Amino acid sequence: MKAYRGIILSGKSAGEVKIFRDGLLLVDGEGKIQFCGDFRKSGIDTKRYKIETVGLILPGFIDMHTHLPQFRAVGMGGGQLLEWLVNHIFPLESNYSDNSYAQKESGIFFEKIIREGTTTAVIYSAPFERACDIAFQSAEKCGIRAFTGRTMMDINSPVDLMDKTDSILESVKSLISKWHGHDSGRLNYILTPRFAGSCSTSLMKKCAEISNSENIFVQTHLSENRKELELMKELHPGYKNYTDIYDKSGLIGDKTLLAHGIYLSDEELKIIKDKGAAIVHCPASNSYLSSGIMPLSDYINRKIKIGIGTDIAGGWNFSMLDEGREALESAKKLAAIKNIDNEINLRSIFNMITINAAETLGINNVTGSLENGKDADFLTADFSEKINAVKIDTDELLSLLFYRKQDYNITGIYVRGRNISIKMD
Ligand code: GUN
Ligand code: ZN
Repeated sequence: MKAYRGIILSGKSAGEVKIFRDGLLLVDGEGKIQFCGDFRKSGIDTKRYKIETVGLILPGFIDMHTHLPQFRAVGMGGGQLLEWLVNHIFPLESNYSDNSYAQKESGIFFEKIIREGTTTAVIYSAPFERACDIAFQSAEKCGIRAFTGRTMMDINSPVDLMDKTDSILESVKSLISKWHGHDSGRLNYILTPRFAGSCSTSLMKKCAEISNSENIFVQTHLSENRKELELMKELHPGYKNYTDIYDKSGLIGDKTLLAHGIYLSDEELKIIKDKGAAIVHCPASNSYLSSGIMPLSDYINRKIKIGIGTDIAGGWNFSMLDEGREALESAKKLAAIKNIDNEINLRSIFNMITINAAETLGINNVTGSLENGKDADFLTADFSEKINAVKIDTDELLSLLFYRKQDYNITGIYVRGRNISIKMD
């Protein structure tokens, strides 16, 4: 049994964030939470257990959308989505046909996200079977919880990244049988048709079939950029709108993650809501690629499931705290432009990067918050200056967390109770 004492923050699905100012987290030998609550109410025998005192204890963060093979391109190149993909991203992803390169880079990617407190990530791996297998091996080794899949591209793409539909599907089936549910559900396959701009309808339909028959999540990009919308009309004529391309392929369901979703009509939003799909908000990427501002508040009011994703390398953040701050700031900007009051606050952002994300992924029974019986996926942090734990309130603490990263250090990152903070300085 391991014991950690400090201020504990943990989200609840009802939009609430709980605080224990003098909290105790007890983790058993299997990596499960035995107790999370007030130190004084724990009844812990302080002579029996060595208690590690830390500043802050938080649930690990969940990044709902990122691209492993792109991290070297963060901050590189201007332009908007379609030119940026051609000029900066596709050439980089091509490098992952070299297995030793893929191996080296995959390890570095995980190191970079783990050190920022990400304990679960939903990841696009490169468009090659071996590179995806290598990404899984790296995730297996480093201890993170991950959903990843081979990025699928069978039309309208550079030849070295494209593959035949059947050959993609064969490789995906073998990756699923090797990795889906691996290590008691820590690693999962996610079907990853890149976007309708690089996928045929027959590929997308097959993805929907596999998703349904194997109960596997699907991720793709939707309605990110105005020129992308024009491309969809050219490549897939005859559909009502962008969402309709996915919907008619059977891809919109309660296991679907749709990144960006900036330019969506009422009709599209209704389908997404009614079918239980989630929109993954990527605010830094939306800003960097001049894509636009996603109306977060509006989607929340429509009761659409929302996740937050770093979308490396469209986005520049490796930290979900940085991305979450970006989500709040972009909501404030949009409210100012519309001359309305901003409705988003840090409590809801904190829940979006923890418990709500776990709910969307169907893993809230094991992670996303610190509760008895769940896996101990958490991080510890120390303040650089003493703070008054008795006086500080939840909102102040959240402000410190999201806006004053220079005032504390993340000291440990744990999945199932195991410290996975590799090579931390
Ligand atoms: N749409 C299709 N592929 C990509 C990608 O790699 N990044 C982003 N931001 N959007 C995409
Ligand atoms: Zn993306």
